[in-house]
Amino acid sequence: MKRAVVLLVFGLLSVCQAQTETGGEEAGGEEEHVELFTTPATKMGAATSDFGYNLFRAMASRETATNVFLAPLSVSVVLTQLSMGGSERAERQLQRALRYHTLQDPQLHNTLKDLLASVRTPGKGLSSAARIYLARRLRLKQDFFTLVEQQYGVRPKALLGGTKDVKEINDWVSQETGGKVQRFLANPLPRSSGVNAVSATYFKGKWVTRFSQSGPLENFQLDGAAPVRVPMMHEDNYPVRMGADSDLSCTIAQIQMQDDISMFVFLPDDVTSNMTLVEESLTAEFVQDLSMTLLPAKVTLTLPVLRLSYSTDLLPLLGDLGLSDWLENPELEKISAQPAKLSSINHKAVMETAPEGNQYPSASSAPSHLTYRVDRPFLYLIRDDVSGALLFIGRVVNPKSLTI
Ligand SMILES: *[C@@H]1O[C@H](CO)[C@@H](O)[C@H](O)[C@H]1NC(C)=O
Repeated sequence: MKRAVVLLVFGLLSVCQAQTETGGEEAGGEEEHVELFTTPATKMGAATSDFGYNLFRAMASRETATNVFLAPLSVSVVLTQLSMGGSERAERQLQRALRYHTLQDPQLHNTLKDLLASVRTPGKGLSSAARIYLARRLRLKQDFFTLVEQQYGVRPKALLGGTKDVKEINDWVSQETGGKVQRFLANPLPRSSGVNAVSATYFKGKWVTRFSQSGPLENFQLDGAAPVRVPMMHEDNYPVRMGADSDLSCTIAQIQMQDDISMFVFLPDDVTSNMTLVEESLTAEFVQDLSMTLLPAKVTLTLPVLRLSYSTDLLPLLGDLGLSDWLENPELEKISAQPAKLSSINHKAVMETAPEGNQYPSASSAPSHLTYRVDRPFLYLIRDDVSGALLFIGRVVNPKSLTI
């Protein structure tokens, strides 16, 4: 699926340091079809992102008009671990939902492991945990434990049943995320649970360019309700890449973070919590095209300070990803000879942004007259620019109701 992003140039003088290709955008994109994802790492980045967008769409369409967050890569990893326990047929079904059929990669697991290692390098500010927990009553096959451990460095774990399990799982998640994802499970797993997938991610966004003003409470408009007061970060002459998409009725800004991470903000033109149009257009290819079309600009930037924590069980969403048959009969024959089913995919995402950055915006005599003011519902995503992998995606309808 290829759709052209129509970019309006706002105020010719102010925007474009990148005017060299004037007029070439529309024609160029259509004529020469360039293969966007050419290396195993970028193909894997695209596959995990497309799985993430599909999962996010499933969440967002069930929970309309609410805040929704997802850190999809850790979900890809835990489900990939699980796929190793299935029959050939079941493995194929699950890996298809994970979009791996697009890869043709015989080294699939190594490619995913390398991608995971590269996005977890300390400078990027991402930590994550992904592990399978299994009911002991299933009489588990030890070969599966060894297989997953050899490949992903995390050994699946047998559960004892009861409240001890909650402490065990929560302690492990906390340890893997440097103490940043706490109270992963609020309630014990159901007594009858069989196979449980656990995934958690913490992300601390670090800007390249710092914000000098942070914290003043300002109005954030809500769809159909009175505005709320939330802490905002503010900076003049802030370098972003930017464009307006008239088809999606939104303005998009890409804000650079440290170590080749960036945040894309999709800000609808109107105050609305309905972002269906944007949600439906999200694919790895769309975002890659977008990143090549946005133009550098200096703007007066206002962003809410984000501190959020979001937990959910993703299991009910798998049916929307074409996995209804698989859920009925996941054929986890390499895990246990007894029939075993997936009982939960608990997921927790925690994210913080802070005003700090390692550069000051360039001094300028007059502030830019372009403004980008994120003071109404928006959608954002955090992307690793090297691999293209989607690390985090969220719809912020009311930042006030986010807690950490
Ligand atoms: C949201 O927007 C889409 C597309 O603009 C529209 O088709 C849909 O009916 C809207 N949903 C709601 C709940 O208003």
